[in-house]
Amino acid sequence: MLLDREILIAPSILSADFCKLGEDIDSISTADWVHVDVMDGHFVPPVSFGPVVVEAAKRSTELPLDVHLMISNPDDRVGDYLTAGADYLGFHQEAAIHAHRIVSHIHDAGAKATMTLNPATPVNMLEAIIGELDMVLLMSVNPGYGGQAFIESTIDKVEELRALCRRKGVCPLIEVDGGVTKNNAAALVAAGADVLVAGSAVYGAEDRAAAIEELRRAAQSGLVRGV
Ligand code: DX5
Ligand code: ZN
Repeated sequence: MLLDREILIAPSILSADFCKLGEDIDSISTADWVHVDVMDGHFVPPVSFGPVVVEAAKRSTELPLDVHLMISNPDDRVGDYLTAGADYLGFHQEAAIHAHRIVSHIHDAGAKATMTLNPATPVNMLEAIIGELDMVLLMSVNPGYGGQAFIESTIDKVEELRALCRRKGVCPLIEVDGGVTKNNAAALVAAGADVLVAGSAVYGAEDRAAAIEELRRAAQSGLVRGV
């Protein structure tokens, strides 16, 4: 059913050089989205940046901003990131208190809502809210750092999420983040992923456009054997 669906590549600027962020965002202009990792030093140990940098990123690209909040208390903070220009705004299920209210806040601002699950959070936590979501982000590493090893069981988790979506008759995008490379891209897409985030696999390459192209080709090869 989904053989001809579009696969989106979203490089994470967490692996960019913040001294030349504009230039590093330009270097991924052949990607589909810019993935923006916000870390508060509380929900995850590191601090990355906040709304001011998200707003600067927004000004420097025409690509949609896919903002991934790794922060405590998203209930009180999402407004700042909507104002900063997030197109997709993702909050962690583990951090949210009133998740439906957060989703409504995002939608009222005209943005798309993503709920994110840590590797140890089961897919069934989405049962009561999946119909409201534009995207589900499955973490394939424990959030906080780029360059970690991919957790293989994420592939089964993507399949479980696809099954849940089928059962509920909904089709949010499925995004995977952490340790994504050309070696696991096809299997993720075959399992049902639509959006692949890649930090080090893109920014670690000398030629970012070539790395994006390689990832895209690998991902698309998963369509022929997948859902
Ligand atoms: C991890 C971040 C990821 C990270 C991905 O907490 O959410 O977006 O930057 O980096 P790689 O692709 O290097 O694992
Ligand atoms: Zn991320």
